[in-house]
Amino acid sequence: MKEATMPVDTHPSPEKKQTAERPDRKKIADHLDGASNPEAIDTNIPDPVMECENVDVYYGKFRAVSGVNLKFARNDITALIGPSGCGKSTLLRSLNRMNDLVDGARVEGKVTFHGEDIYGPDVDAIEVRRRVGMVFQKPNPFPKSIYDNIAYGPRVVGMKVSMDDLVEEALTRAALWDEVKDKLKQSAYGLSGGQQQRLCIARTIAVKPEVILMDEPCSALDPIATMRIEDLMQELSQDYAIIIVTHNMQQAARVANRTAFFTALASEQTGDRTGVLVEYGSTSTLFQNPRDRRTEDYVAGRFG
Ligand SMILES: Nc1ncnc2c1ncn2[C@@H]1O[C@H](COP(=O)(O)OP(=O)(O)OP(=O)(O)O)[C@@H](O)[C@H]1O
Ligand SMILES: [Mg+2]
Repeated sequence: MKEATMPVDTHPSPEKKQTAERPDRKKIADHLDGASNPEAIDTNIPDPVMECENVDVYYGKFRAVSGVNLKFARNDITALIGPSGCGKSTLLRSLNRMNDLVDGARVEGKVTFHGEDIYGPDVDAIEVRRRVGMVFQKPNPFPKSIYDNIAYGPRVVGMKVSMDDLVEEALTRAALWDEVKDKLKQSAYGLSGGQQQRLCIARTIAVKPEVILMDEPCSALDPIATMRIEDLMQELSQDYAIIIVTHNMQQAARVANRTAFFTALASEQTGDRTGVLVEYGSTSTLFQNPRDRRTEDYVAGRFG
């Protein structure tokens, strides 16, 4: 896919000056020492498809996320939760190099996909984004027909397939085929929000990724459309690893078998709030028997 056409969903902070200058790590590290709780982070993840090793993400000098160690298993649905501004979207975008398209953004540490560093010198970011697809908060179909929304990615990457079959397969898998099969040539903008989001999921799976990143994919949808997307995630998790950011804790509890809880810590010197991973494990443990006090407070609604 061409870089210029990739949608980017960010929360720009215009007040933060973007520079390429490297921050003084020592100065800003103090308040983060011991912030992550290794005792509360599961590392024994079978057959991980992606891994973050000590990942920091910066916007210019501002460190938005610090020291994340996380492994994502194949066929898992992993929820990333935590208060607004703790860096969930930032971390998610670092998993398919979407941050490359954000001014001033820089990733340190290592993100691997099947053991290979996705930021390595010979790695093609566009290929990374094909294999690690992304669905955004707001459905963002292209201003094209339903058919062409699906066919666009496979054409750009030169997939040698019967396009009609591929379009049908992707729409069927995204549980949209029956609703659109008689109007494939109509504009995608004529679909409802929930249908547009399923179209975006179909578009993502059309290029045969292995991981699907979803940033609050249901926040613009009603409960029925939300339920359909959640069912779809369960269905897709048979073939894909799904990593979903959600503010809805019931949603995390319903769909995700693993959950990662992040929080943000403010530096006394600069006031900057940096996101850290607090706890990671099975969703049931995290919600019912959390190992860290901060997780307990958050899931009990006492914070955030
Ligand atoms: N493009 C950007 N330029 C500069 N700072 C940014 C940019 N995008 C995000 N940030 C900052 O990085 C921090 C983390 O933001 P991020 O959007 O990742 O948080 P989040 O956990 O996804 O929040 P929310 O739950 O509100 O979506 C915030 O302080 C935010 O202002
Ligand atoms: Mg976000």
